[in-house]
Amino acid sequence: MAKLKVIFICSTCGTQSPKWMGHCTACGSWNSFVEEVVEKKNSGSEIDTSQAWKKSKPKTSSPISIALEDVQAGQISRKDTNDPELNRVLGGGLVRGSVTLIAGQPGIGKSTLLLQMALDADVGKVLYVSGEESEEQIKLRADRIRKNQKGVYLFSETRVDLILVEAAKIEAGLIIVDSIQTIVSSEVESSPGTISQIRECTNELVRYAKETATPVIIIGHINKEGDIAGPKILEHTVDTVLQFEGDRHHTFRILRTLKNRFGSTDELSMYQMEVDGLHPVSNPSELLLSQHSERLSGSAVACTVEGLRPLLIETQALISPAVYGNPQRVATGFDQRRLAMLLAVLEKRCGFTLGMQDVFVNLAGGMRLHDPGLDLAVIASLISSLQDQPLHRQICFAGEVGLSGEIRAISRVDLRIQEAERLGFKAICISKYNGKTDALKTSGIKIVALGTVNEFFEKVFEQS
Ligand code: TYD
Ligand code: MG
Repeated sequence: MAKLKVIFICSTCGTQSPKWMGHCTACGSWNSFVEEVVEKKNSGSEIDTSQAWKKSKPKTSSPISIALEDVQAGQISRKDTNDPELNRVLGGGLVRGSVTLIAGQPGIGKSTLLLQMALDADVGKVLYVSGEESEEQIKLRADRIRKNQKGVYLFSETRVDLILVEAAKIEAGLIIVDSIQTIVSSEVESSPGTISQIRECTNELVRYAKETATPVIIIGHINKEGDIAGPKILEHTVDTVLQFEGDRHHTFRILRTLKNRFGSTDELSMYQMEVDGLHPVSNPSELLLSQHSERLSGSAVACTVEGLRPLLIETQALISPAVYGNPQRVATGFDQRRLAMLLAVLEKRCGFTLGMQDVFVNLAGGMRLHDPGLDLAVIASLISSLQDQPLHRQICFAGEVGLSGEIRAISRVDLRIQEAERLGFKAICISKYNGKTDALKTSGIKIVALGTVNEFFEKVFEQS
């Protein structure tokens, strides 16, 4: 008879303890222990199914010199996914033997993205394993997004050892696992989705990937806080972590690299969800700028940079007297605390009284951005709404606002200026401390350099 046992595992580092602890003595994190029921296997009662995919004895390897002639170039070759946006976030394509984790909220399009990639990629046979959907469901989706469906094998299975046996049998060139929270390993007796299961299954997938040089892509769920569900070691074990984000009710999706052992983490790509799947967006700025032609107060264009990609986006603000006692401050796509800080700057440094005003700030297209360079555009739209005076349509903003109302320098200002110029803007408003960039001398766009928020009134509205 199997014996039931309860253990506590730290969800950050995976340390086990027989008792619950508030503070992990191994990694120092607080409140990270979760309870898990494990069944102790009686020794010798079952056949060991782990690594059943191995037909022969493991290859023995020996250390090799890092000198170029010893490392074969073929070992680091990449496979083309036939999706330029996906190639970009992966650092140029799928690396053989790499393990990639894609995380995102439910319904954001993770399964769609990977199914599309399975149908398009140049990798030979693809084993698409789903523990969440049946083969019929996946087939229906595949019919909707692609006509050519050769080379993709669907497999509705949750046991990791069986998955790997089948992968070895068909000699899959790529394995996609949807999702890591649904698959189980016979090595561990706890239920799917628990820390020990996720850890064990990932380890088995990583072992297979490295020994057979097969790329593996894993889908991971995220929890309420927006972190990847499961142990932090999941992120440490895999080679690449991608995050798929966006608002489910809008069509834009952003795929961001959080970790990449084979490329830069500054990469980002954008997709648009349509009836026939996800389509890459190569010119996001053009779609995010508002389409109306008349000038309206409370609207300003921010010139932001996400990763290495410049992105022009419209910010809108509305300030109106609060009807009920408590004024509201609502920010969509922009950090709420940052908005509170900008309002405090406007009160203290520019003399506005906002205590009894409702304030709403919105970024176009359901985008959620964290670039500090957004501050200046948000302040511009707030001031424009307060004064009820529209800004010039051909001006955009890029700058961080400090607590004393100073406009601070931001990174990658040359990229921002180039993008603003490319999209036909006549002027860009930046910090005067950014003034030394080479781009300033070569660009044909007018540069409005600001030192403090107060200079805004004379230098910006005068442009309008
Ligand atoms: P899905 O890929 O299942 O999301 P996830 O795996 O991240 O949970 O699909 C997300 C949503 O996308 C789903 O609600 C339906 C929608 N969708 C489209 O709008 N167009 C399409 O072509 C497909 C396949 C899905
Ligand atoms: Mg899914």
